[in-house]
Amino acid sequence: MSANDAIFLSAHEAPGAQSIQRCDACAHELNALDAAPECPSCGGLLAIIHRAPVDVMGAPLVGSALSQVLSPASPGAHVSGVWRFESLIMPGAGEAITSHPEGNTPLMSRPRVSRFAGCDGLLIKHEGYNPTGSFKDRGMTVGTTQAVRTKATAVACASTGNTSAALASYAAQAGIPGLVFVPAGKVALGKMAQTLAYGATTLLVRGDFDACLKLVQEASRELGIYLLNSINPWRVEGQKTIVFEMLQQLEWSAPDFIVLPAGNLGNTAAFGKALREAHALGLISRVPRIVSVQAAGSAPFAAGFRDGFATRHAVQAETIATAIRIGDPASWDRAVRAIRETNGLVITVTDDEIIEAKVVIDASGVGCEPASAASVAGVRQLVQSGVIKSGDRVVAVLTGHVLKDPGILVELHQERADFAEANRPVEIEPTVQAVADILRRSRAH
Ligand code: F0G
Repeated sequence: MSANDAIFLSAHEAPGAQSIQRCDACAHELNALDAAPECPSCGGLLAIIHRAPVDVMGAPLVGSALSQVLSPASPGAHVSGVWRFESLIMPGAGEAITSHPEGNTPLMSRPRVSRFAGCDGLLIKHEGYNPTGSFKDRGMTVGTTQAVRTKATAVACASTGNTSAALASYAAQAGIPGLVFVPAGKVALGKMAQTLAYGATTLLVRGDFDACLKLVQEASRELGIYLLNSINPWRVEGQKTIVFEMLQQLEWSAPDFIVLPAGNLGNTAAFGKALREAHALGLISRVPRIVSVQAAGSAPFAAGFRDGFATRHAVQAETIATAIRIGDPASWDRAVRAIRETNGLVITVTDDEIIEAKVVIDASGVGCEPASAASVAGVRQLVQSGVIKSGDRVVAVLTGHVLKDPGILVELHQERADFAEANRPVEIEPTVQAVADILRRSRAH
């Protein structure tokens, strides 16, 4: 194992430090409080390496002893579903913590969704229950806390909408000016509305997400703005808690598959790191397979998977699921490691399959934004192809709330003439007779 494959700091490394930043590519090391957006030596992505947790006597804290300390019922446990895991994500954050709080999202089962997917053991981890309605809050609470610790004067991100909403909210809470770069005309209405409401300076870039990301990286380098995209290693630390919390809800009995939508690959990378660490700490005895699901029109990572990750792919991205409309994902190498280490899979689903799954998830009363539905569409595909077997335990992650993208709901239910499941609103005169007529008609159907 090379230095940059290490899971935790060894006893003789970085004396006195709880965590360090280490370049994924060249193993160059930086202090945990260094605000560099990438490796100053080679430009590679930085990762956080922690010292493994110890008990009050200094002995390694692993397995069930560690799971007790991490429990929400543990005395003094933080109310946040992210900061409950402080020792595994940013030990010693203390006073700097900027928390809504967030996390504590439900793990649920819905017969209608299970039937659709053909998987009895399907559980849904709904990250749309976070304060700004997406999983991004988990990374952003940690990234913003780091911005506070490093006394950042401004924070910035490129986004397809959810990261920008989360950044805007947490930057407002921390009192740090926020700057977001989004692709003009390609951000769902709910996300744009949130970003404006929380007060971030919002730049509508004439280009796609990939152009936004390049621009924000250059701007952050030249203007000294703290970068809060998912390449920020602290954001990855926060997003690990989706997996920690899910495993905790399953009493640390790992499922067979964890299925998630994939765009810029920050989450795939974070899930891989979380599973690697949970396994090394004896919290789980075996590692679930990660399945990253891409939209067929935005699927460079799936193309990479098909050629054994021999080359890095980039595409001109197009999909109805604007959250994952990304052609040149930034966390490629980390995500490759996550897929390889978990014997994972990368698959694609079409926009029609995404909408089909979304309609079922919505009509079950759960609801999600289009990109999120890719995970359930992916489960369905893997059941049909026999990869997921009856009896397998599967967790599909829904990444964003149904109200993130009201535009698609209006289109499906009110505007599109060819949509069979449309639930059309009916305008009536204000009379009981009119209501009775409608009831009679709907009974007749
Ligand atoms: N699902 C939703 C709802 C998202 O907003 C995103 C990413 C993903 C899935 C994919 O996660 O990028 O880590 O692979 N949204 C980013 C954003 C790009 O700017 O909000 P990923």
